[in-house]
Amino acid sequence: MRTKLVAGNWKMNLTPTEAAAAVEAFIKLVDARENVDVILCPSYVSLPKVRELIRNTHVKLGAQDVFWEESGAFTGRVSASMLGDLGVSHCIVGHSESRGRFGKMETDASLAPYFAETDHTVNLKIRRLLFHAINPILCVGETLAERETGKTEEVIAGQLRGGLDGIDPAELYFLVVAYEPVWAIGTGQTCAAPEADRVCGFIRDTIAGMMGTDVAEHTRILYGGSVKAANSAELFQQPNIDGGLVGGASIDPGEFSRIVFSA
Ligand code: 13P
Repeated sequence: MRTKLVAGNWKMNLTPTEAAAAVEAFIKLVDARENVDVILCPSYVSLPKVRELIRNTHVKLGAQDVFWEESGAFTGRVSASMLGDLGVSHCIVGHSESRGRFGKMETDASLAPYFAETDHTVNLKIRRLLFHAINPILCVGETLAERETGKTEEVIAGQLRGGLDGIDPAELYFLVVAYEPVWAIGTGQTCAAPEADRVCGFIRDTIAGMMGTDVAEHTRILYGGSVKAANSAELFQQPNIDGGLVGGASIDPGEFSRIVFSA
């Protein structure tokens, strides 16, 4: 039986001061909920403050990205050892926004190449995280154009194969995968629960084929994309959905706590 997991991806929101206030409010609301795993993923600059505030609670600390090299002349990058030193237990990798793929195109499309994430860099990041015993949250998902041309499964299988290529299944026992259809992120257009469940089932079958059924049965597969308190219960009830990766709604402590309760 997989424990449900709800992770809040705060993206580029909340200053450290605002993050502290949000965590304090959130902790008051959910601290007793030990039957659900909860992870907060603030921006890098808020990690130390959030770490301090969640100490002695069951809430875990996550990062939104990492660089794959161990250390060196990589201006502006953050390494897995730095994250580990800050008490980070999970790290998002391959988010569609890091891949330069946006559901709601507020950013100029011509800037997309500057995000420069590929399945190969995702793979390098996962390897580095595992070396430092940080659990990856691998994001996969198709764009609207890919869905409409019947490529959903092909795209997701490619992202899984590329991201997990050559990794020993024994190292992936605590893997988390998030199915985040790009068209559902930040758009208010949630994927219907049965369809999200079907794709999460496809992800589990693909992982079973690559890594064996034991890894597939342990892997928590989350749904992400316009999750709110109003739709989370139905999504989280699906047999192949083990929780959620929540963006916008995770910034509001009241809304996020209701999503956690629903899990
Ligand atoms: P929203 O919940 O804002 O749609 O974002 C989902 C997401 O990208 C989480 O990583």
